[in-house]
Amino acid sequence: MIGAQWGDEGKGKITDLLSKSADVVVRYQGGVNAGHTVVVNGQTFKLHLIPSGILYPDTECIIGSGTVIDPQVLLEEIDQLTALGIPSNHLFISQTAHVTMPYHRLLDQAEEEFRGHHRIGTTGRGIGPTYADKSERTGVRVQDLMDPAGLAEQLTWTITQKNLLLEKLYSLPPLDPATIIDQYLAYGERLRPHVVDSSLMLYEAVQKRRNILFEGAQGTLLDLDHGTYPYVTSSNPVAGGACVGAGIGPTMIDRVIGVAKAYTTRVGEGPFPTELHDPIGQLLCDRGAEFGTTTGRQRRCGWFDAVIGRYAVRINGLDCLAITKLDVLDTLPEIKVCVAYRIDGRVTQHFPNSARQFAHCTPVYETLPGWQQPTTDCRTLEDLPRPALSYLKFLAEIMEVPIAIVSLGASRDQTIIVEDPIHGPKRALLYDQGTDPWVAPPVT
Ligand code: IMP
Repeated sequence: MIGAQWGDEGKGKITDLLSKSADVVVRYQGGVNAGHTVVVNGQTFKLHLIPSGILYPDTECIIGSGTVIDPQVLLEEIDQLTALGIPSNHLFISQTAHVTMPYHRLLDQAEEEFRGHHRIGTTGRGIGPTYADKSERTGVRVQDLMDPAGLAEQLTWTITQKNLLLEKLYSLPPLDPATIIDQYLAYGERLRPHVVDSSLMLYEAVQKRRNILFEGAQGTLLDLDHGTYPYVTSSNPVAGGACVGAGIGPTMIDRVIGVAKAYTTRVGEGPFPTELHDPIGQLLCDRGAEFGTTTGRQRRCGWFDAVIGRYAVRINGLDCLAITKLDVLDTLPEIKVCVAYRIDGRVTQHFPNSARQFAHCTPVYETLPGWQQPTTDCRTLEDLPRPALSYLKFLAEIMEVPIAIVSLGASRDQTIIVEDPIHGPKRALLYDQGTDPWVAPPVT
């Protein structure tokens, strides 16, 4: 399950729903830049690293090798869950995942400041620098936290080098290697019971025919390779990232489910063609409570962008979509959907591969009637006002992908399951324009 926009699509709730049918839930990329808010029985859970599947006692949750782990935050999450009576003995962490260190966080923030108006708008959680060290082959991995002599040797050298950057380039105070070594060895001891060879664990789960849900963090447009570079995160949130980040082969993935909001949001810098700087944008922000789970920043809001949607269908090979927060549009008299971009006088339905073209495109809109009545209590497609149904149908047709789930609020029950995305019939990858996206048999 992946985000089809710029993150914050409401994946936490959909993972939570799908986790019911999953024996194993896996995070495969990203770190504490992500944030899931899950509401169960009126209780709100904020999770950054631990998959939301942790709320189901029989679901194994794995933080895979493509993630970057901030042990301090992870341990705080474990403690928070314990305090709420939720055990974490079914949480497993890959021994090859990389560790976010204090200098990563400091450098992330210092580099952002240094970039000035070229800043990316990162979450400041050290994600980019952790992945940079991984690529540079100077990173610390989870297994290193359990090797006192090795960690001491590595960190003495690494922190000496990082201190040069902190002091000489950014005029920040240096870090003390001995303190950090002790602190991270202590984290390693606490995490030790959770540390596993997660690729092997997953392979064995596949052999036993267990259901595995790979939970993407961030979204397609934030992908390092396929997103709106350089305004992206440093990992691969796209579906293909699941194979690399979890250590499994592509043949082990049966279906790919995308999640998209009924409108678009973005946090941080970078082009956003359908962004609204008007009262409607503010209304989406207010009604959708569009503030980041991790940083509390107000999200930028705009109309649904079907060009991006079509791109997400292609890049991820989506089988179906979950559309979230449809209820946020309930009060609008009319709703726009971006169906194409105008670039240098030319109209295209394809996402431009050039950053310059994307930065200068203008959206071509189609306007649909709003429904101006509440949908939060709808539980079937038939309950929806006609224009709301037409809106969904329009999205499915223009993106050439069936919609399997519609979410109308934060609670588990505020959901319409059009078709069970796991057990329902698998759709052809290329959506047949002639077929009705709503003819799928009802879920039993
Ligand atoms: P980083 O991942 O902290 O390096 O931030 C890079 C970009 O990704 C920034 O624009 C962030 O706002 C964005 N980003 C990172 N994580 C999330 C997320 O979970 N939701 C939405 N945006 C995110």
